Amino acid sequence: MRTNQPQTIYLSEYRVPAYLVDNVDLRFELFEDGARVHSTLAIRRNPESDAGAAPLELDGDSLVLESVALNGEVLADDAFEDRGDRLIVNSVPEQFKLSVVTWIEPQNNTRLEGLYKSSGMFCTQCEAEGFRCITFFPDRPDVMARFRTRVEADKTAYPVLLSNGNPVESGDLDNDRHFVTWEDPFPKPCYLFALVAGDLVEKRDTFTTCSGRDIDLRMYVEPRNADKCAHAMDSLKRSMRWDEDVYGREYDLDIFMIVAVDDFNMGAMENKGLNIFNSSCVLASKETATDVAFQRIEAIVAHEYFHNWSGNRVTCRDWFQLSLKEGFTVLRDAQFSADMGSDTVKRIEDATLMRTAQFAEDAGPMSHPVRPSSYIEISNFYTLTIYEKGAEVVRMIRTLLGEDLFRKGSDLYFERHDGQAVTTDDFVKAMEDASGRDLSQFRLWYEQAGTPVLDVADEFDAERGVYRLTVRQSIPDTPGQTDKQPQHTPFALGLLDEHGKALPLRLSANEQDAPVERVLELTDESHVFEFHGLAQKPTPSLLRHFSAPVRVHYPWTREQLLFLMSHDPDGFNRWDAGQRLAVDVIQSLVGEPKDTPLDSRLVTAYRHLVTDSSLDQALVAKMLQLPSEAYLIELAREADVPAIHAARERVLKHLAIALRDDLVACYRRNASGEDYAVTPEQVARRSLRNTALAWLLVINDEEGRELALRQYREADNMTDRMGALRALVNSDYESDREQVLDDFYQRFQTDPQVVEQWLSVQASSPVAGQLPKVRALLEHEAFDWRNPNKVRSVIGAFAGQNLPGFHAVDGSGYDFLAEQVCRLDDINPQIAARLVTPLTRWKKFAPAYRSQMKSALEQVRDKSGLSKDVYEVVHKSLA
Ligand code: ARG
Ligand code: ZN
Repeated sequence: MRTNQPQTIYLSEYRVPAYLVDNVDLRFELFEDGARVHSTLAIRRNPESDAGAAPLELDGDSLVLESVALNGEVLADDAFEDRGDRLIVNSVPEQFKLSVVTWIEPQNNTRLEGLYKSSGMFCTQCEAEGFRCITFFPDRPDVMARFRTRVEADKTAYPVLLSNGNPVESGDLDNDRHFVTWEDPFPKPCYLFALVAGDLVEKRDTFTTCSGRDIDLRMYVEPRNADKCAHAMDSLKRSMRWDEDVYGREYDLDIFMIVAVDDFNMGAMENKGLNIFNSSCVLASKETATDVAFQRIEAIVAHEYFHNWSGNRVTCRDWFQLSLKEGFTVLRDAQFSADMGSDTVKRIEDATLMRTAQFAEDAGPMSHPVRPSSYIEISNFYTLTIYEKGAEVVRMIRTLLGEDLFRKGSDLYFERHDGQAVTTDDFVKAMEDASGRDLSQFRLWYEQAGTPVLDVADEFDAERGVYRLTVRQSIPDTPGQTDKQPQHTPFALGLLDEHGKALPLRLSANEQDAPVERVLELTDESHVFEFHGLAQKPTPSLLRHFSAPVRVHYPWTREQLLFLMSHDPDGFNRWDAGQRLAVDVIQSLVGEPKDTPLDSRLVTAYRHLVTDSSLDQALVAKMLQLPSEAYLIELAREADVPAIHAARERVLKHLAIALRDDLVACYRRNASGEDYAVTPEQVARRSLRNTALAWLLVINDEEGRELALRQYREADNMTDRMGALRALVNSDYESDREQVLDDFYQRFQTDPQVVEQWLSVQASSPVAGQLPKVRALLEHEAFDWRNPNKVRSVIGAFAGQNLPGFHAVDGSGYDFLAEQVCRLDDINPQIAARLVTPLTRWKKFAPAYRSQMKSALEQVRDKSGLSKDVYEVVHKSLA
């Protein structure tokens, strides 16, 4: 067990830095057995600090210190102190140059923080606190410096040498070595530093900015991936144009580079001028990537590009402000994706993620506000709350202000804070100043954790023709927070008459030209809204577009939901009604006998979706997805996963049997004729087709089986091939399953991104992903403990998506996860801490499961030498 308790960092203890760094001069000597880093920092006392002539303290992690010099004079051993995680220089002048030489071993760096090696190339990941693994430095985002970086390496093994900014010098050195020097003119925090050295091919393009400047666009990938760059490059150009058009943001440097690396802890990183991507989030060809992957790549390329303004030009003062850049940037990439495809579909995807995963996080032991007030390990706070809820919070500001004032606010924010490291409060202030609106109560969204609940009740006064809506807001207690204040919440709604016509929303008896949709503003614990001039009790369409990240409780009848499902003029709420109906039906079957009759109206509603091709097919494709097991678990009080799984399967099978012929017709109607393209129409078509296939195989339909086998063989793109593979893998056709899995591996074994999909389609399947099979995948030649994507594809997919497998009643799934987390903790603590998440939700489950999950967590807690990453998650979960 751990003896010393890791330290908690508090926002309230924030102090401005005692010293500032104006310039950083770096020289990297890269070798096979390590790297020597020469750093010279131009440092001065911070006039805004009251620390006076305090000792200089620099952060460090896993560094071997070789020498320290002050203004060129090598310091004697007693003039500084190397505490491992800190270098302290006792007396320093007001302004000076500090030169430090450190030795590091990138080839042994399995944490993938700082400088490390990934399939033969050197690369970096510095956010949040990786730069301290490279050299001693004040590793905090409010220290911003100009970087000059010289990279030296063997010329044959590492012909490409990259860093931030522009290349200013290059040349040959002795021993077949060479160097390139890069200079970044924009001061930046060290978390945005990047370096890459490798044998990479270069793909080039150009973008002409709104002011007529030509930007050199470059992608660097391993030679075998040369034909997988086009989609990312196109996405980049679309992002650059969109940010000019919608936010007035022009790119600033002359070069923009993207590098793909196979071993990466997260999706991608916005290093200034040199974005580094997880290969799986940037490389695509139609043969190897699904539609979902294409769309994710477009969104991530945009996200990282947008960070150049929302993150780099204006950055975070401290890591408590992480959502300042992430929340805003996620909103920006969501707007972009909506503009590139379908607004409604994108909103459905985002609301699903929020309601399934973020609400669960917000209700769990790691629940934290969008602006947390303490943490042990900041890597644990790259969460759905910071990213997705943070984006919802900025979206609500946009809804409250309206498009134009929001843009004014964003312009003011960028202008006022360009080159600064600021807080979420500065962001809100800019929005207030530009709009004249008071957002003081709104700020609670940043400070209070937990998902607000809106309890809605209604009554109709037939005599007066008044429909009265009562909305009560409450926010559940979360760790460390009770008795919360109501939050300022935009509540969008409409009212429908019995034919589905949108009714004018008259808030007073004589209001003229009332709109048919309104955004009501909730500020108090309880509000009563009266709508006048109505002949009959209307059907309410509540929280349209998911106008706030809240739960809505309203006693919908199934008639109302069926009605909204086919009549709501708002596409998002039509989908929402369908989900609520399906949830209601499934929930009513949980734990009930197998012959409990099923509401026949569900079949009628779904038949309408499957057969009526005049409906928006992209929306239909979404509406046909039954609520996931994860969502049903989130909604349950004490989840019994096998029972939930069985109830959901029953509904699925019932629908598939009843709609069997319609599904075959739907499959045939959506056969793809034209060349593959990721357009909303084609994506919807492939999705419908693959859903039909999956449903047919759930009921062991012979024709479905033949269609799947043929589709698998004849597919010219991965969406179709994977759709068929997944359907077969989840079916009872065991020999077909084994055969296509083998074939798939034979075909694609040299492509790591495809092998990841092959691993996860098995591990996530309740049919193919039995625990012994999953254990066998860990022994497979394709598995690699040091590669996060492979780890996620097997262990993450099993625990996060194969819910019946993970929640096996004997607790074997829990023990398995605990065992793997312990093993991974010694290799890559960041990944281990993420992987343990499913166990942390133990309180959510029925007693028999709960106690076994808890003891698995205790197993992890008691591992010796536990990292602080896993320590924080496990201790908070057991508290
Ligand atoms: N800032 C990056 C992004 O959102 C993610 C940070 C990666 N962090 C990490 N510890 N690997 O685009
Ligand atoms: Zn980001």
